[in-house]
Amino acid sequence: MAYTLPKLPYDYTSLEPSIDATTMQIHHGKHHQTYVTNINAQVDKFPELKDLGLVTLNQSIGSSKIPKEAATAVRNNGGGHWNHSFFWKAMTNPSNTNGPSSEVKSAVESAFGSVDEMKTKFNAAAAGRFGSGWAWLAVKDGKLIITSTPNQDNPLMQVADDQSIPILGLDVWEHAYYLKYQNRRPEYISAFWNVVNWEQVTENFTSAKDGKVPNVV
Ligand SMILES: [Fe+2]
Repeated sequence: MAYTLPKLPYDYTSLEPSIDATTMQIHHGKHHQTYVTNINAQVDKFPELKDLGLVTLNQSIGSSKIPKEAATAVRNNGGGHWNHSFFWKAMTNPSNTNGPSSEVKSAVESAFGSVDEMKTKFNAAAAGRFGSGWAWLAVKDGKLIITSTPNQDNPLMQVADDQSIPILGLDVWEHAYYLKYQNRRPEYISAFWNVVNWEQVTENFTSAKDGKVPNVV
């Protein structure tokens, strides 16, 4: 079955004022749709990709399971599809954000000392990613880590520096923030914390600590 653009679990206006509606509309409806269209084109061309499913497809990037001729397009567009699907679900209307659950909070405290310290490290990873990419809070060997990836790479891929299972991710491509924040990426990063869906992060954490990749589509 062909991949499809997932519906957002909220309206384009829901993340205002942290993320404006026009950005959401273009980001979801145009950018994400393009990754979906392009990964489907690869699956049509290379039928052996059909049975992998989106998670295994991502986990196979960097391995011989992906035909050499398709490797770059699958990495960029299969990554783009998983990353954005994951990103949308982990955000919510500012009135629905309650802060981390006790379970996530204690894992964060044991890895980073405090929630504030984790945010400082995450923000630095997001701000310090040169060019386009993502910052991640992820589970590696049962512990939380912060990492970042270039372009549409993610920690599921075999090409990642820190192979791990994400529980929260932030898109720091200019297409994610430029209309509202222009060159002020750090302002966008700090506004992101107002729309984090901590219930979803808890669900992601529960999967990830059991070695399971959160279900995004
Ligand atoms: Fe994006």
